[in-house]
Amino acid sequence: MKHIEILSEMKKGFEKIYGKDGDIRYYFSPGRVNLIGEHTDYNGGHVLPCALDIGTYAIAKKRDDRQLHFYSLNFPKLGIESSLDELTPDEASDWANYPKGVMWAFEERGMKIPSGIDFYIFGTIPNGSGLSSSASLEVLTGLILRDMFDFEVSNKELALIGQYAENNFNKVNSGIMDQFAISMGKADSAIFLRTDDLRWNYVPFELNNISLLITNTNKKRKLTDSKYNERREECEEALKRIQRIKHVDNLCDLSIFEFEKYKFTIADEDLIKRARHVVYENARTIDACTALKNGDFQKFGKMMYDSHNSLKDDFEVTGLELDTLVLAASIQEGVLGSRMTGAGFGGCTITLIETDKVEKFKTDVQDLYTATVGYPCSFYEVSIGDGPRRIEM
Ligand code: GLA
Repeated sequence: MKHIEILSEMKKGFEKIYGKDGDIRYYFSPGRVNLIGEHTDYNGGHVLPCALDIGTYAIAKKRDDRQLHFYSLNFPKLGIESSLDELTPDEASDWANYPKGVMWAFEERGMKIPSGIDFYIFGTIPNGSGLSSSASLEVLTGLILRDMFDFEVSNKELALIGQYAENNFNKVNSGIMDQFAISMGKADSAIFLRTDDLRWNYVPFELNNISLLITNTNKKRKLTDSKYNERREECEEALKRIQRIKHVDNLCDLSIFEFEKYKFTIADEDLIKRARHVVYENARTIDACTALKNGDFQKFGKMMYDSHNSLKDDFEVTGLELDTLVLAASIQEGVLGSRMTGAGFGGCTITLIETDKVEKFKTDVQDLYTATVGYPCSFYEVSIGDGPRRIEM
């Protein structure tokens, strides 16, 4: 369904709950997928994500009081009420802790929100799939606040505010990649971002007869429950140890040569593995970006496998489900490359595949996956879409 059709359907539900009066506005914010450069963003390294044409929709209206009303079609039993005077995380707020976190972060930056809002949300990103439904909702909230109350914030700032909220309100120590990819998204383009200084540029990603296929392991996970924060701490510890003999601000400031030279000082096998992934993945992401610019999908695909193997063996964030999908993909006809995307521990893989081979791929991979894991995976054929926006209806 197109954006307008989805929002028209949602409008009926909105009006039932909140009525027809007032200045009702419509918005969309995308999800994201990372092509390569995993677990590099909190180590000052490079990432290469893009925004998707699936994402989160909102219909919203200003209120006269300070109340916040949240309703999501994805969790229909759960109407959540809060207020601008209660911007603290709590269990009862459930998914609304993401928008609440962004409002809190606006206020922290001195942008006081003058009135409450009625929100009606619908997300087309499967929850817990690793395609950033939470970052999408955070950027969406920032967009709504900017649009409704005329705050002067750039899209880049919306990304930083979203990350700040995620880190400090929802206590997930994520990097900047997800919110940045979403706020700066552009159709048919990947975003080559250097995370230590946020320098970035668009890289054309026009697929022609190749498809970007996302496969969901359907293994449920939540970033907050995962070992994400633990990996981040391991990277910080490895960096601290390297810094005893080499001055660097981030692990990704090290070249492969320097890492090999100084790794002995880390003196712990697991920490060396974590740091090795980060340093090699960063170098690979820079090379992969060049391959993409040159239209060399063969080379790009090979680097996707290398990335996956490094995440599997050194960073240890894959698991049976993701590894089965990549292995199953690697033996299918027409596949150029495949890897896990996002934080890992479940979630999705991405596969570059010749478009006319997609149907056979789905059947064969589904059979192999179900036989190995015991439940089915899901496939999404996605396009690379634009960033967050208000939609006129
Ligand atoms: C999650 C985080 C990102 C990034 C990836 C791993 O998506 O939110 O900041 O660290 O994991 O690359």
